[in-house]
Amino acid sequence: MSGKEKIQIAASILSADFSRLGEQAEEALEAGVRWIHVDVMDGHFVPNLSMGPQVVRSLRPIADRFGSRLDVHLMIMEPDRYLAEFVRAGANSVSVHVETCPHLHRTIQEIRALGARSGVALNPATPLSTLEEILPDLDFVLVMTVEPGFGGQEFIPSSLNKIDRLHRILTERGLDRVLIAVDGGVHTQTAGAVVRAGATVLVAGSAIFNDQETVAENLRQLRSAIETSTGRTRKAK
Ligand code: DX5
Ligand code: ZN
Repeated sequence: MSGKEKIQIAASILSADFSRLGEQAEEALEAGVRWIHVDVMDGHFVPNLSMGPQVVRSLRPIADRFGSRLDVHLMIMEPDRYLAEFVRAGANSVSVHVETCPHLHRTIQEIRALGARSGVALNPATPLSTLEEILPDLDFVLVMTVEPGFGGQEFIPSSLNKIDRLHRILTERGLDRVLIAVDGGVHTQTAGAVVRAGATVLVAGSAIFNDQETVAENLRQLRSAIETSTGRTRKAK
């Protein structure tokens, strides 16, 4: 990676205090975050239920004030049925799981036709080879570093090798514009290694929204961990 590459921190609101969701999103935005990550779960593809398009719609005006992206991570079966609704609600980017999409090419084209950026998420046990044909059509790959479904889980260490291999593949194929996003167990102890392996977008939930510190302080610590352990001057927004 070049030292000029900017690392984005995507704040996953799954761990936010839902009774004051708008405020929590604003705290992250005020602290410089420019990606708000919205986790959508159906109790079927993953064993948990979370939120739907109305949350995206409510956050849209807040994100607009900061010129920020709303990034929707669909952990649902048959995501095609809901793509238009989420983009109409205000999603700037949508990721679908390769495990849920038998016609992935069509799904990706549909996301792009709707005017959003397209991402594909991979469960920890899903090989990178499932993306071989589709990589040039993507804006980002979301590498899951926990089993999707819940916040606050432990980072799966073998994922680092997967991120590194994906980074190499993208470089070899001249696809550096395809971002590598990493989701699950990202905190001050793991963020540096994730960036060194080649990730440029770090999704973090419980490391940002928790009872220990303010959102601004948590973000400061996360950025400082990234800068220290990469030993390079990269800006983590
Ligand atoms: C998990 C979600 C994540 C989750 C990450 O299925 O996709 O975005 O919020 O939570 P942490 O950062 O706490 O592991
Ligand atoms: Zn997520």
